[in-house]
Formats: sequence, C-alpha cells, structure tokens
Amino acid sequence: MTQAPVNVTVTGAAGQIGYALLFRIASGQLLGQDTPVRLRLLEIPQAVKAAEGTALELEDCAFPLLAGTDIFDDAKQAFEGTNIALLVGARPRTKGMERSDLLEANGGIFKPQGEAINAGAADDVRVLVVGNPANTNALIARSHAPDVPAERFTAMTRLDHNRAVAQLAKKLGVPVTDVKRMTIWGNHSATQYPDVFNAEVKGRGAAEAVNDEKWLAEEFIPRVAKRGAEIIEARGASSAASAANAAIDHVFDWVNGTPQDDWVSMGVPSDGSYGVPEGLISSFPVTCTGGRYEIVQGLEINEFSRPRIDASVQELADERDAVRKLGLV
Ligand code: NAD
Ligand code: LMR
Repeated sequence: MTQAPVNVTVTGAAGQIGYALLFRIASGQLLGQDTPVRLRLLEIPQAVKAAEGTALELEDCAFPLLAGTDIFDDAKQAFEGTNIALLVGARPRTKGMERSDLLEANGGIFKPQGEAINAGAADDVRVLVVGNPANTNALIARSHAPDVPAERFTAMTRLDHNRAVAQLAKKLGVPVTDVKRMTIWGNHSATQYPDVFNAEVKGRGAAEAVNDEKWLAEEFIPRVAKRGAEIIEARGASSAASAANAAIDHVFDWVNGTPQDDWVSMGVPSDGSYGVPEGLISSFPVTCTGGRYEIVQGLEINEFSRPRIDASVQELADERDAVRKLGLV
C-alpha cells in the first residue's frame, strides 16, 4: 500500500445501514481496489459499544485495504480530516410526530455535523446524506459549512434510481444493464418523479418501449416512489442493504466517473437548471468525470413530466421554508 488511506466518516455506524455499509467500504467497493481507507465511525454515546462490536468484526475480516477504524461520539473529532462523509444517522419519525418536529429534531443533528465538517474536514471532502429527510438534512448541513464548496453536499436518490431501473427492466423482460439514462427528479420522498421519457432501453426510448402510459402513471411511478414504505411493510424495518448498496454506487460513481452512455441520479444543490430554484438540494440526472459531477443539460421535459417534477420540487421548497422558520438554514 503506497497511497495514504482515504478517511471515510460514517455516522449512525451502529445502525442497520451502517452494518450493511461498513464491510463493503472496508473491502474496497466504495473507492476501488487500489485505495486504502481509514474508517471514522460516529455514534451517539449509547450506541458506541455496538459500534465497537462492529469494529471488532471489521478487524476479523483482515481486509487488506482497511488501515484502521476509530470510533467517536463527538462530531468535531469524527469529521477531522475526513475526505468522504456518509451521513447516515438521523432521527426517525415516531408516532405522533409532526413533519416540523422531525425537521427540527434532525436540525439538531445536521447543523452541528455541518459545522464540524466546516471546521475540520479535508479540503476535498465529499458529503453524502442518507439519513431522512435526506435532501433537507443535506441543505441544513450545507448551510452550516460556508467554507466548503456547496456542490460537495449531496443527498441520496440513487436507491430510487436503482429501483426505477429494476422495475423498468422487469416490465420489459430485459437485463438491468440494458436500461440507461434513468432519472429521478426532486425529493427522496413519495413525491419523487422517476422519468422514463429520457431513459433508453437498448438505445430505444424507454417510454416508447413500454408504450403504456397507464402503467407508468398508476403502477411504475407509485411503485418506485413508495418502495421504501413497501419494504418497511414487508421487512418490519426500512431498507438497509439496498440503501447501503446505493450509497456505495453514489460515491463510487462520483469519484470514479459514470460511463459515456449513461448517467445517474443524485440529489445536488440546484443551479437553477430545469426551473428548480437555485440552492434546493434536488435530484437531477448527472454525469461524473474527474471526481466532479455535472447536471445533464438540454433534456426535454414533456407535459407528463413537468407537473410531477414541479410537485416534488415544491415539497422541497416547503421543507426549506419550514427549516428556515426554525432558523436552521
Ligand atoms: P437505524 O435506526 O438502524 O440506525 C441509525 C443510527 O444512527 C443509530 O445507530 C443511531 O444511534 C444513530 N444516530 C442517531 N443520531 C445520531 C447522531 N447525532 N450522530 C451519529 N449517529 C446517530 O437506521 P437505518 O436503518 O440505518 O437508517 C438510517 C437513516 O437512513 C434513516 O433516516 C432512514 O430513514 C434513512 N434511509 C434513507 C434512504 C435513502 O434512500 N436516502 C434509504 C433507506 C434509509
Ligand atoms: C427508503 O426509501 O427505503 C427509505 O428512505 C424509507 C425510510 O423511510 O426510511
């Protein structure tokens, strides 16, 4: 190992996504087989012991690329020198909790984490927020990290993207690798819009290949948008391995690039593209090269898509207004 290890901070490390994620990072799937990693795990004090147990198991895997694992219950220390920050830990919505209560509780987590990233992260830090409500949590963290370029704060919609690819491939009876240029627009919530009109299947327009607008409107879109709830209903717990897999995909592609003939979906600060108000962290189609992403420009947004994108973006604007009222952004 000649290269210095990349510092990867994972919050909520003792949670179920954390357990599915850490071993894949340590095995080289996050950054590639040439890149050693040092894990920095952040947990709340009550969960530190469980994180220590996971660290013992990581040691027992004797991963050649794992340079070490450190555990913290203090955000400032956990983000010191971090190159990749995976913000997974969040306050889940519990019975009787209003959405504003949820946003406020998460503000108590993502504001200090943004400040800690601002204070101590490496100059090249890249941040992925997984913890829900992911887009608005990312907005809160970004608002408290004025010295970090805004575009380094991203939110995860890759799970939605992968779900959409899988559902479309299943409908058409083709391998998932035949589906390209899927897009998720908007919020990681039930208002998200999975867009097949710009997607392709073996080089042919996907909407044309499906040729069934009723299926799109009544089955595909709700299936993808409500898949999280379907998993919770079936498993009795929210998606974990598939969420961890999507986090790996998101960072891997951001760092290593997307293929020439494809793009991916990421929640990124809007630059005003496609009428999404500047600054909102909204999902867009992006290509990645040289460790940077760019929003794909010039796509046609048809009459079917426009109101659906607008509705999800409006929800993001409402969430931003709610956290603004709480003084969180
Ligand atoms: P979990 O409850 O199993 O684990 C969360 C962990 O976060 C817990 O161990 C908890 O102690 C820790 N935590 C809480 N506050 C913390 C803080 N301030 N600092 C550090 N750690 C903290 O939950 P999970 O199943 O791992 O899911 C984590 C989050 O990811 C949830 O918000 C979930 O809704 C979200 N999620 C997002 C997507 C997506 O596609 N964006 C998909 C699945 C789940
Ligand atoms: C998912 O999409 O699986 C999760 O965001 C669901 C959830 O509410 O945790």
